[in-house]
Amino acid sequence: TKLQPYNTFGLNVTAKYFASFDSTDRLRLLLQNLPTENFLILGGGSNLLFTQSYNGTVLRNEVKGIEKVREDEDFVYVKAGGGEVWHNFVLYTIDKGWGGIENLSLIPGSVGASPMQNIGAYGVEIKDVFEELEAYHIPTGEIHTFTTESCQFGYRESVFKRKLKGQYILLNVTYRLSKKPIVNTRYGAITDELQKAGITSPTIKDVSDAVIRIRQSKLPNPAEIGNAGSFFKNPVVEKAILEKIKVKYPEIPLYPVDDHSVKIPAGWLIEKAGWKGKRFGNYGVHTQQALVLVNYSDANGKDIFNLSQEIIDSVKSGFGIELEREVNII
Ligand code: EPU
Repeated sequence: TKLQPYNTFGLNVTAKYFASFDSTDRLRLLLQNLPTENFLILGGGSNLLFTQSYNGTVLRNEVKGIEKVREDEDFVYVKAGGGEVWHNFVLYTIDKGWGGIENLSLIPGSVGASPMQNIGAYGVEIKDVFEELEAYHIPTGEIHTFTTESCQFGYRESVFKRKLKGQYILLNVTYRLSKKPIVNTRYGAITDELQKAGITSPTIKDVSDAVIRIRQSKLPNPAEIGNAGSFFKNPVVEKAILEKIKVKYPEIPLYPVDDHSVKIPAGWLIEKAGWKGKRFGNYGVHTQQALVLVNYSDANGKDIFNLSQEIIDSVKSGFGIELEREVNII
């Protein structure tokens, strides 16, 4: 089966076996009948780089449905199927007037993938509004419930990428959204965008629209140029390293972390190392945001991987900082 439509990098690779499931029963049946020594669960395919064809089974999560499961005075608890498109879910909640994920508008991918790497943007991470999720435990076939605590969320991290990697399939996720939304516009780019539009008391819809405009101006649309969003994580470094960089670049942008460390935008480091907009035939580094690697047409995943290694080496020798990939390499 060709996987090109199922990965946002648009890489032309295949899977030996491919099937999709829209319910737990169907999933159980597939797992009983397909070889599962090697298998991969696919949501929106927006955080993957295939460096070769997949010699195993690829299962696509198409569990749908959005449902309000309960509410109290302040919150609604909304459960969405793992196979729902994340941005459609965000738009649905905005339409209902429920606040909490408007800053996460237009992130590519599925609801089921959202807790995997604790997706985040513009000052919000899903862990802030996460209630619980249900996941299929592959070894036993049982359905287990996870809370915020048991998901062990971190920056682009969860237990499903670490200790429990490959053991669970995320069936549905419940988010806790506010009936009396307080918008979060602290992120500089949002403040600027709202100001430009002359909006002084933004609604969640205004914030969502602002985020959409910012993303569209900086990030390539995977439907047009293959990519997987940020290819690297923003590194957390000791303040001593920062002070050294500041001698040459007093204007370095940063995110505060704690008294000893700061997070530096990897895109800035990569740009300063000279990579922004570099094109190597059919792949390269995005022109507007150096954190994003792109497939212009029919690129080979191995080439993109090798480029990412060159970038890591170059940032390491230029700044003494070792970048870590955010995208899963297959
Ligand atoms: N910058 C540069 N050059 C670049 C890119 C960025 O100098 O090529 C500078 C910007 O000028 C700005 C700073 O770096 O001062 C931060 O840039 P931006 O606001 O674009 O955010 P980011 O740190 O590069 C992170 C997330 C994005 C998320 C944005 C907005 C990570 C790895 N990336 O990027 O998430 O959308 O913040 O919150 O944390 C993703 O994970 O796929 C993703 C796109």
